[in-house]
Amino acid sequence: MKILYSLYALGRMEVVWGEDCLEFRPERWISEKGVITFDHADKFLVFNAGPRTCLGRDISFTQMKAVVASLLYNFEVEVIKDQVVSPKIAVILLTKNGLMVKVRERAVAAA
Ligand code: HEM
Repeated sequence: MKILYSLYALGRMEVVWGEDCLEFRPERWISEKGVITFDHADKFLVFNAGPRTCLGRDISFTQMKAVVASLLYNFEVEVIKDQVVSPKIAVILLTKNGLMVKVRERAVAAA
């Protein structure tokens, strides 16, 4: 049996993520003790799941975390208010008009 599914839709479905599925709330994966909690891999299929799971998944997560940590350590990023952020249909997820932000170097990084 062949199944075609939309990763974009799957990441925003109430039945999968609950009532607050459209809210950006990364703390949903952090326990009260501050420990990262793990969800079932089948809920996040960007890297596929099961026997054909992406072999580069862990290295990709490590790379993403290293890039984000280094950016946030060195820069303050403020999202410009009142802009329409909408997806552009493409092979990878892009924004139609981009995401406008103000970037300032952090004092700690400049010192
Ligand atoms: C954000 C980055 C990445 C995404 C979203 C991604 C996504 C995926 C997906 C969806 C598949 C399953 C394809 C299928 O249907 O069979 C896959 C397979 C695979 N990926 Fe990635 N990948 C990423 C990065 C990487 C990296 C960095 C490597 C290697 C260092 C890698 C190595 C592989 C390999 C070897 C497979 C085949 C696994 C198998 O079929 O046994 N991927 N990837």
